[in-house]
Amino acid sequence: MTAMSDRSEAETTMTIDFAPLHRSLLFNTPLSGERAHELVAFLAKTARGTVIDVGCGWAELLLRLLEANEAIHGVGIDLSAAGFDHARQGSKGRQVADRLQLICGDVKDCLLVAAQGAICIGASQIWGPPPQARLPMDYAAALAALRRLVSRGAPVVYGEAIWSTSPTEAAAAPLGGRLDEFIFLPELIELATKSGFAVVRVHKATLAEWDDFESGHMAKYTYWLAEHPPDDPQVAEVQALAQAQSAAYYRGYRGILGMAYLSLLAV
Ligand SMILES: C[S@@+](CC[C@H](N)C(=O)[O-])C[C@H]1O[C@@H](n2cnc3c(N)ncnc32)[C@H](O)[C@@H]1O
Repeated sequence: MTAMSDRSEAETTMTIDFAPLHRSLLFNTPLSGERAHELVAFLAKTARGTVIDVGCGWAELLLRLLEANEAIHGVGIDLSAAGFDHARQGSKGRQVADRLQLICGDVKDCLLVAAQGAICIGASQIWGPPPQARLPMDYAAALAALRRLVSRGAPVVYGEAIWSTSPTEAAAAPLGGRLDEFIFLPELIELATKSGFAVVRVHKATLAEWDDFESGHMAKYTYWLAEHPPDDPQVAEVQALAQAQSAAYYRGYRGILGMAYLSLLAV
């Protein structure tokens, strides 16, 4: 998914030592505990064997799945290992460490064998242009790759950003700056069907889930400012980042950028 903060971090500074996102977010996506429970229940009921989480981050959904179904082995892959320590700690606490494998690398370079289930949330850029390229999201490439990854009958949870309502220039500006960056929910459902999936259940994140998610992203600035003296030389830069993030959301894409979660079966 292409939240404003994904871009601002890449485009501004990497030298400021912010608290990890998992300090203030359960998932790196607008997702409540209740909705996560439903997505996990769908996967746990249908998946057997190996479930792959592509772009897993700190793999919280995968951990919940391993806890829900003892017959499942989880493989989480991410370009960055920044969330892996947190994931490993969580796996030990839940007694699922022996069924979790974490791989740091580009999903496209990993030799992916047929899986019996998959999770792909906010990670379609693996198969399309990166957020910084400011190009339309390639949902079709992601759905086709996921279909190739899983065997027939396997469940897939696919979550991705969509337009929730017609985008305005102010909403698009801090994102990709274009009105065609995302599609609408009906088009996404049609694409999933054309890509070889049966759509079992459609979820759309609520505004409350978005507000929690954006607050969690902004919290890294808030924590930093609260934990550093006012004369720290980086204060002005962090204040500017916090202000830009807040304006992007509250004056821009709040209520306009949406997030869909599709529970799919490979057919
Ligand atoms: C928005 S985050 C979502 C994380 C996680 N799925 C969740 O819901 O909490 C997208 C993740 O995809 C990862 N990612 C992006 N491109 C990737 C690639 N080519 N291979 C592996 N991971 C990638 C990023 O590092 C990031 O952790």
